[in-house]
Amino acid sequence: GIAREVKGQQLPPTYKEGLPLVGNLIAFAKGPLNVVQRGYQSCGDIFTFKVFHKHITFLVGPKAHEIFFQGTDDELDQNEVYAFSVPIFGKGVVYDAPLEKRLQQLRIMSAALRPARMYGYVDQMVLEAVQFFRKWGDQGQVDILESLSDLIILTASRCLMGREVREQLFEKVSKLYHDLDQGMQPISVFAPYLPISAHRKRDKAREEMVQLFRTVIQNRRRRNVKEDDMLQTFMDASYRDGSRPSEYEVAGLLIALLFAGQHTSSITGSWTGMLLLRNKDVFERVKKEQDTIIEEHGDELNYDVLSKMNLLHLCIKETLRMYPPLILLMRKVLKPKFYKEYVIPENDIVMVSPAASGRLENVFKNPNAWDPDRFGPNREEDKKAPFSFIGFGGGRHGCMGEQFAYLQIKTIWTVLVRSFDLEPIGDLSQPDYNAMVVGPRPPCLLKYRKKKDSFLDRVSLY
Ligand code: HEM
Repeated sequence: GIAREVKGQQLPPTYKEGLPLVGNLIAFAKGPLNVVQRGYQSCGDIFTFKVFHKHITFLVGPKAHEIFFQGTDDELDQNEVYAFSVPIFGKGVVYDAPLEKRLQQLRIMSAALRPARMYGYVDQMVLEAVQFFRKWGDQGQVDILESLSDLIILTASRCLMGREVREQLFEKVSKLYHDLDQGMQPISVFAPYLPISAHRKRDKAREEMVQLFRTVIQNRRRRNVKEDDMLQTFMDASYRDGSRPSEYEVAGLLIALLFAGQHTSSITGSWTGMLLLRNKDVFERVKKEQDTIIEEHGDELNYDVLSKMNLLHLCIKETLRMYPPLILLMRKVLKPKFYKEYVIPENDIVMVSPAASGRLENVFKNPNAWDPDRFGPNREEDKKAPFSFIGFGGGRHGCMGEQFAYLQIKTIWTVLVRSFDLEPIGDLSQPDYNAMVVGPRPPCLLKYRKKKDSFLDRVSLY
């Protein structure tokens, strides 16, 4: 193993489970969340958990989270822990790029997600949602997670990849996306290049995807047209030395954004709706909020209207507190970090858990109750330490797509609520903690019946 001593400094307490050697691995594979919670109960807000030769040091709670989120890139590194993304995003892209280049790529991505761009994206979101829900017909039953996954990939392909992909190449891209997605198995985290069929399909899909974007990019350049999408932003971007990202890199950045936003948004959108439909009081207030705001704007649904929907916003945030899709965030320690009387040595993996920290009783009163008002203005929870709610991460690598995600989910539920009478079927699903991105265990069924004055019939798309 790696020597973990730092002279004269105390290491964090260690936490173990079950049999020696394999106990920890089994416990971690079965339920990482339980490990965090039990470790926290027995050791406190910092402890080390050993899996084979790896030392994983957990930081739990707002104070300990500061160490994680305030760390700089030369102290806490993402590249190694997120290496499993490299065969998907591509060589030299994001987590495979040297720090200097990676930071520039992140800057290019964040330019495509800045607030001024949201007006245009919302129009696309509304357009896709209306077309999509019109196909539902007058009444029926759906699995909402399946539906939202389908819808969100349509929106993403329009906002990210642009008109050509959405209108002509969508079938192809969604098949390729499927193979890429299936290429990210839990085993891929440990052995991203293991020669299994899922990985072979993944590699082939990536090559085809790059080829396809290359064609779209070259066509745009040849015809000298500019579109209002992320692809264009990436095509026109430049690195600090004046060079442009290659076609290969542009494709990689698009794929990276697609992966960051797809499951996270469809899962959060599904939980939000499933919880709303089971909490009648809040649901009535959400409907009233929509009536008031939309009437003020002459039945229009756009960025300004959605931005005023505070209660719906808090519903999404509260949902993420309880059911964050990314349950563990990690970094590799490059320079020793200090917390309380402890040192976290070089080469440790540090982890924080949005899922565990959203349920801490000393941070969130009555943590297992879904209560969107807990985050309202002037409420206790909002005044707490900055890193108590970490569903979107935080600090220098906090989620760039946060606003995009809120707007997407708000668009979907606004269109749905104003178009259909909705009823949940069965009990609320439980989270499936075995998945890479944690969502509700299927099925997530609901019944719908179109309203007489449905928004879908009133709205005209142009
Ligand atoms: C980073 C959550 C949607 C783009 C993150 C992180 C979290 C997160 C927890 C931090 C990861 C870390 O610290 O290691 C979510 C959730 C979403 C969502 C819960 C939906 C509800 C999106 C969308 C996009 C996006 C829609 C883009 C369109 C990104 C990017 C980063 C990121 C680019 C990396 C930022 C950086 O490293 O500097 N997200 N995300 N996310 N997210 Fe999201």
